[in-house]
Amino acid sequence: MKSEIAQLLSKNISLNKEDIEKLIEIPPSPELGDYAFPCFTLAKELKKSPIHIAEDLSKRIKSSEFEKIEAKGPYVNFFVNKSNFVKTALKESGKKDFGKSKLKGKILIDYSHPNVAKHFGIHNLRSTLIGHAIYNTLEFSGYKVRSINHLGDWGTQFGKLLVAYKKFRGKLNINNIESLNELYIKFHTEAEKNPELEENARNEFKKLELGDKENLKLWKLFREISLKEFDKTYKILGIKFDEIKGESYFKDSVKTLVADLKQRHIAEESEGALVIKQPGERPPLILQKSDEASTYASRDLAAIVERMKSKPDKILYVVDNAQSLHFEQVFEAAERLGINRNKLEHVKFGRLRFEDSQMSTRTGNIILFESLLEKAEEEIKKIINEKNPSLKNKDKIAKQVALASIIYHDLQNNRLHDIIFDWKTALSFEGKSGPYILYTYARASSILSKVKKKTGKLSFPKSIAEKEFLLAKKINSFPEVVEKSARDYSPHTIAEYSYELAQCFNEFYHSCQVIGSEEESFRLSLIKSFQITLNTSLNLIGITPVDEM
Ligand code: ARG
Repeated sequence: MKSEIAQLLSKNISLNKEDIEKLIEIPPSPELGDYAFPCFTLAKELKKSPIHIAEDLSKRIKSSEFEKIEAKGPYVNFFVNKSNFVKTALKESGKKDFGKSKLKGKILIDYSHPNVAKHFGIHNLRSTLIGHAIYNTLEFSGYKVRSINHLGDWGTQFGKLLVAYKKFRGKLNINNIESLNELYIKFHTEAEKNPELEENARNEFKKLELGDKENLKLWKLFREISLKEFDKTYKILGIKFDEIKGESYFKDSVKTLVADLKQRHIAEESEGALVIKQPGERPPLILQKSDEASTYASRDLAAIVERMKSKPDKILYVVDNAQSLHFEQVFEAAERLGINRNKLEHVKFGRLRFEDSQMSTRTGNIILFESLLEKAEEEIKKIINEKNPSLKNKDKIAKQVALASIIYHDLQNNRLHDIIFDWKTALSFEGKSGPYILYTYARASSILSKVKKKTGKLSFPKSIAEKEFLLAKKINSFPEVVEKSARDYSPHTIAEYSYELAQCFNEFYHSCQVIGSEEESFRLSLIKSFQITLNTSLNLIGITPVDEM
């Protein structure tokens, strides 16, 4: 609807349709109309009072779409014809491509990227959930999207692991991440007593970079063990990557790149290392260490060079705030190489913390996704056993609701915010949560399944009840929500919308009788529309609803 209003206004004022659309608001109460156009921007431009402009505009605009168009202070308020509006809303939302757009462009998205030989970090989990939602939303909006898992599978940490493996493995059976983690910890406790080990680690990594057979074989083993573990997580989340190219993939191209940068004087020597200077106070990017080992930054730079070959319009890096400096340095270096920096974007996110100490391991920033999920599952099962003890497939449903509760708890927040994981909020069946939304969805499914066999003809009522209208209006705003989420890379826009949509449905359902009422056919089609829209909305953020719970 906003788009129609913007179209109408654009014929009467000097702003373009897109800008007008962004200004249109949904007023807080129905006396102020269903949509409102604030005149402040125009007032500035025309150097006239916004009240006069609103007055004047409200007289000039004519359209049969609206019951009333009136000025109130600096706003032009639009009152839609509710019957027409609801009819159009139902028709639109019934289309197969409802909410989709046909934006063009190719986007690469680098997300998840856990580190081999370590547990899936909390920041990797956040990156995975946020990245996956952005991926879905961009694809839904028409972009060609390619997901990349840039695994942390190269770097000095492997030197440490190799030392620990060779020296301190003892009877430890190296067959899972836990054992690799133990090796890692062992290295650090031993290195505290014996600093020489750090030097040994650097040597082992150097040998690895030079292609030492034994080290390569061990590295492969570490990598395989880790990938198996990560795959479990991806399977639970239903995620597949278009490309898994870890940092190790760039171990050769990085050498050529470094040599080239040196020759072109983009890189220079500094205390034995090779660096790329940065503007202002920003510290230089370290391209190569004094022992000639490659760095995280140099491998990222080599990856950009390779990625640019497929001519993307954007490369997104869904990585936590803590790496802001790293990306500023790398993007600056890319620019010096002649790459358009505007194509590179660090899509940042804040920290997630757990107050529940049981949930974090010794190092504090690692969370075992599976144990998180298990705990959620247990709690959800308890609630289901209370509310609906005869439910079939309890286990499967509890699993799905548990997953939704964790995903939703994360994505309901603006990605930039730091958040504290709160079980009560995540698992609540009443507040803003995955379980509440899924419960609402299941309620709609259950109504629809009761009347499955009846295929009455759709008849529209003469007058539309307020709650019916509000639900239709919410459904109708879905395309705008997707557009905003795609533009800002903000999954929370869709998460928030899913909640508001569920709320509108519940309010409608409490005030309007459906089965057996005169408006049955109309109300059922409204529920159907709601259900389809909520399903699409949830799918975009990686949540699959359940029909029963
Ligand atoms: N593996 C890194 C970590 O867990 C994140 C990698 C981010 N992606 C990138 N291209 N640098 O911290």
